[in-house]
Amino acid sequence: MNKNIAVLAGDGIGPEIVAEAIKVLEKITDKFGHSFNYTEVDIGGCSIDKHGVPITKEGMEICKASDSVLLGAVGGPKWDNVDPSIRPEKALLAVRKELNLFANLRPTKLFPQLKNASPLKQEIVGNGIDLLIVRELTGGVYFGSRETKEVDGQLVATDLMPYSEGEIERIGRVAFETAMKRGKKLASVDKANVLDTSRLWRKTMHRLSEEYPQVEYSDILVDNTAMQLIKNPTQFDVLVTENMFGDILSDEASMLTGSIGMMPSASLSSGTLGMYEPIHGSAPDIAGMDIANPLGTILSAAMMLRYSFDMAKEADAIEEAVNKVLDEGYRTGDIFEQGFKKVTCSEMGSLVADRI
Ligand code: IPM
Ligand code: MG
Repeated sequence: MNKNIAVLAGDGIGPEIVAEAIKVLEKITDKFGHSFNYTEVDIGGCSIDKHGVPITKEGMEICKASDSVLLGAVGGPKWDNVDPSIRPEKALLAVRKELNLFANLRPTKLFPQLKNASPLKQEIVGNGIDLLIVRELTGGVYFGSRETKEVDGQLVATDLMPYSEGEIERIGRVAFETAMKRGKKLASVDKANVLDTSRLWRKTMHRLSEEYPQVEYSDILVDNTAMQLIKNPTQFDVLVTENMFGDILSDEASMLTGSIGMMPSASLSSGTLGMYEPIHGSAPDIAGMDIANPLGTILSAAMMLRYSFDMAKEADAIEEAVNKVLDEGYRTGDIFEQGFKKVTCSEMGSLVADRI
C-alpha cells in the first residue's frame, strides 16, 4: 500500500525521536511491501523562526491532504515570550481543530520488563498496568473564548469551557466502542459536583450507557480519579474525559508506565485521518544530545498503522519488536536501571528496526 505521511518533527527532541520512528516505518515498508511518502512540515517554534507563524497555511493543507500526520513535539523556552496568538502550541491546537481530531487515545501500558521503573510499589502495579485514556480533544476550555481585561483597576482573565451534547456524545461513543473491544469497563471522569459542563457530560454518558449494556459503566470525579490512579490503577480499563482533565490525568498516568517517554497517542477524526504523537513534550534540556527515549514515538507510529492504515499485522510487528528490545535489556536513560544496557536514542531506534 502507498501512503502519504505528513511529518511534523517540531522542536527540541522532536526531530530526533521522529527520525527513529521513520527508521522503523521504513523497515516495515521493506518487510511488508508498502511504500510511505513523507512530506516535512514545519511546526511550532522552528516555524515561527522561519515563517513568523507556528504553522503556515500550506503546511496545514499538506496535513489535511495526507493519509496521516506524525508529530514530534512543539515549544521551548526560546518561544515562551512570543505573542500568545503565535505560540508554538497554537499550531498543535490548530491542527487538532482543523483536522477535526476530537478523539485522543492515550494507552497507558506498563511493560512488565519496566516494573522497577514505575515509581509505584510492586503490589500496586500488580501484573502490569494496561489502561486507556480517551480524551476529548477539540472542545472545552482549550477552545472556548478567552480574554484578559481590566476591571476596577485590576486585570481579570476568563477562559470559557463550553461543551455541546453533540461533542460529548461523539467522544462517548468512541469510548464505549473502544471499551467493547477491550475489558468492557468504562469510567467517565467529570466534576459534576461543581461544573455544568460536567453535569451535561454525565447525563449524556448515562444516556449512551443504555445502548451499551455489556459495558460496566461508572462515573468518577476527577479529583478522586487522580487519587485512584495512584492508589489502585489496575481497577481501570477505559477512562473517558474532557479535554483538560484528560491532559492532566494522562501525564499523571504516564508515570505508572515508568516514564512519560514510553507513552504514544492517537488523535482521531470520524474518518481514517489521524495524528500520532508521543504525549511528552519537546524536552529542550536534552535536545540534540541523542539521549531521548524514542519508544513513545515509535509506538505512536504503530498506532498510525493500526488506526489510519488498517495494518494490524504491521503494528503488531512494531510492538513485538519494542517488547523484544526491552526483554533483551536495552534502556534509554529515562528507564535505565543498574545491570541493564544503556543506549542512545538512535541506537534504540535501530535496535527496534533490526527486530522487525
Ligand atoms: C498534550 C500537550 C498539549 C496539550 C500542549 C502542548 C498544548 O500537553 O498533548 O498533552 O495540552 O494538549
Ligand atoms: Mg499534556
